[in-house]
Amino acid sequence: MHANGAGDLTRRALLGAGGAAALGTVLGGREPRQGAAGTGTAPVARVRAEGAHQAGIARPAEAQSHLLLAVFDLDDTPAPVLAELGRSIVDLVDGGHPALAGIAAGDLTVTVGVGPRLVAAVRPDSPGADDLPEFAREEIDDIHRGGDVVIQVCASDPLLLPLALTHLMRTSPELRERWRQRGIRGPVKAVRRGHTAPRNVLGFIDGIAIPTSKSEMADSVWLDDGAAAGGTIMVVRRMVIDIPAFQSLSVAAQEAAVGRRRSSGAPLSGGGIADDVDLQAKTADGRYRLPADAHARRAHPRPIGAPLMLRRSYSMEDPMGLLFISMQTELRTFVRTLERMSESDALLDFTTTTASGTFLLLPGYDRSRPLGSTLFGAS
Ligand code: HEM
Repeated sequence: MHANGAGDLTRRALLGAGGAAALGTVLGGREPRQGAAGTGTAPVARVRAEGAHQAGIARPAEAQSHLLLAVFDLDDTPAPVLAELGRSIVDLVDGGHPALAGIAAGDLTVTVGVGPRLVAAVRPDSPGADDLPEFAREEIDDIHRGGDVVIQVCASDPLLLPLALTHLMRTSPELRERWRQRGIRGPVKAVRRGHTAPRNVLGFIDGIAIPTSKSEMADSVWLDDGAAAGGTIMVVRRMVIDIPAFQSLSVAAQEAAVGRRRSSGAPLSGGGIADDVDLQAKTADGRYRLPADAHARRAHPRPIGAPLMLRRSYSMEDPMGLLFISMQTELRTFVRTLERMSESDALLDFTTTTASGTFLLLPGYDRSRPLGSTLFGAS
C-alpha cells in the first residue's frame, strides 16, 4: 500500500510554501479554557477527551511535558470496564473533579489502549491482535512484557498525573497494575511552523522526522477501516541508556551515532533541522556523510518501505533513558525498523530495553459511542 519512501516524499513536499501554512491549521486541538490557569504563569489550554480520535496521540500537537504510563492485566469482560474508564476520563478532564484536589485540569489527557490478548479474543484479524516478537538488547521479565490495558496520562502539571491515575484505578478496580513509568520532556525547539520537538536525556532533539500534516497522519498513524478505525497501534519500550558511556564520547562521536547535530538538530548530511536526512550524500573522499550505523539512517523508513511512525517519547530520570512511544498503522513498521536497527545502530548499542508492549489505542469516543464499544460492543 505504501510505496518506498512515501513518508519521505510527503515530508519533503510539506516543506513547500503551501505545506507550511497547511501544517498550522491541522495541528490544533487545544481550546482556550475559561478561567482555568496552569500552575505556571502561562495559560494552559484544555484538550478535549472526546472526538474522532482519543486525546494524547496527536492532540495537543506539542506533547505535554509530563507523562505517567501504566500497564494492567484485565481478566473481566472489557466492554463495561472500558466504558467506565471513558466516562471517568471525561469527568476528570472537564475540571473541578474532587479527585484532582482543587488543581486545574489544564491540558490533562488520558489515552487508553488494549493489548493483543484482548483484541485477538474478539477480532483475531483486527490490527492490534498481533504481539511484538522478542528483540536483541532486551532484559524483560514477565511482568514487564505485554499487558492487557495501557493508560497514558499526560499533563503540563506533574501533580495531576498520579491523582488522575489513582482515581481511574479506583473507579475501575478490575484493572490489576503490572508496571508504571514516569516521563519528562525537555525544552522544545521549533522544527517548522506548528511542529516542535523536545530535547531528550542525551541532549538531542527527538521527534523531528515524524508525520504532522493531516494527510501524513492518515497515511502513517490512523487506522481507517473496521472496528478499530480512528485508533492506532502503539508501541512502548522502556529503554535504559548507558549514560556514563554515552557521556564519555566526544560530541562529534555522539552526533555520528545519532546522525544529527546535537545543538541544532540538523542532519549530518546537510541542511537544517526540518530537512530529511540524505542517505546518499557523500564527502569529497567518497564517505557517507551520514555514517552507515547512524541511528537516523538505520531507523529511516525508506529502506523498509514503511510509512513514518509517530514518535512521542519521553525521557526518564529513574532509570535514565527513554520511554520510547510510537504510533503507527501497522505493527510491522516498528518491528522492521527495530530489526534493521538491531543489525547495526550505534545508538542502540547504548540501550537495554527493560519493559515492552504493544497496544491498540482505541478509537475516539463520546456519549453515544462509549470507549471501546466498536471493538468489544456496548456494555
Ligand atoms: C534510547 C533510544 C532512542 C533514542 C535516544 C532515539 C533518539 C532519536 C533521535 C535523536 C533521532 C533524530 C531526530 C528525529 O528525527 O527525531 C531519532 C530518529 C528516529 N528514531 Fe530514534 N531513538 C531511540 C530509539 C528508537 C527506536 C527503538 C526506534 C524504532 C524502532 C526509533 C525510530 C526512529 C525513527 C523512525 C527516526 C527518524 C529517522 C528519520 O526518518 O530520519 N528510535 N531517534
